[in-house]
Amino acid sequence: MNILILGPGAVGSLWATKFKLVGHHVSLWGRTSKSELSLQLDDAPLTTYSNQSITSVQEADLILITVKAWQVESAIEPLLPYISEDTIVMLMHNGMGTAPLIEAKLANNPIVIATTTHGAYKPSKQQVLHTGHGYTQLGGFNAKGAQCDFLAEVMNHALPEVHWNPNINGALWTKLAINCAINPLTAIHQCKNGELAANEFAIELANITHELVEVMNKEEIKVDFDALHATIMQVVNATAANYSSMRQDVFHRRRTEIDFITGYLLQTTEKHQISTPENTKLYQRIKQIEQSWTE
Ligand code: PAF
Repeated sequence: MNILILGPGAVGSLWATKFKLVGHHVSLWGRTSKSELSLQLDDAPLTTYSNQSITSVQEADLILITVKAWQVESAIEPLLPYISEDTIVMLMHNGMGTAPLIEAKLANNPIVIATTTHGAYKPSKQQVLHTGHGYTQLGGFNAKGAQCDFLAEVMNHALPEVHWNPNINGALWTKLAINCAINPLTAIHQCKNGELAANEFAIELANITHELVEVMNKEEIKVDFDALHATIMQVVNATAANYSSMRQDVFHRRRTEIDFITGYLLQTTEKHQISTPENTKLYQRIKQIEQSWTE
């Protein structure tokens, strides 16, 4: 397949190198205007990709968007005039709420949403490290996207495991809940994920989880407190030594994904006219931290 990776950060570079290894024709669209970029996955040899090539947009069978949620709209903008209606557009990032923004611009394209638990880290522009083996779920966002289940096999060949999930919304909400619980708290307290297992966070985490269950149930995602709490604590323990992406963003004073994580939850809360004070408090605190950088 002709695959274009829009946003060759850590996750985008991981997929680019994995797709190339199994023989796909892979191009990148990064921020730099260099016509070629090179990537090295772990100890594998360096591989080279065309960058910002209009032809690669026109010929793409799949555009995989791996920029952060808040960058999706502006990142796709320069490509819009060249994207064919047959090109599958796939979103892969933390948070929710970007698919309707893409649909508004590319109404006739198949749109697929992906969520992945693979860990990747880019210590330099060329190097990408596959730091944690995870799995990926895909599902259609619109009717044309729902017909793209063959992609699970294609992607599974490059970087297993990949599953097609007809109920991708449930998977996205579970991931959103994990991010709502872990990311703001670790960013505010500047701690590793594992530190959230300490007693001092028990009540706060339970309150956050109760609110998440209420909102998810309103969205017709069937989940109870014990199951969601266990899932969140399982991720806390499995990623105990890691710094969450939001903790890293705050540490480096980069804009966080809060608007598409807790912000998306609060929009949904408002829609159902319920209140989620614990999550609102976390949202406001992260916003305050971001604003303090510009003052
Ligand atoms: O955003 C992150 O850092 C990750 O999604 C997760 C699962 C919280 C692990 O750090």
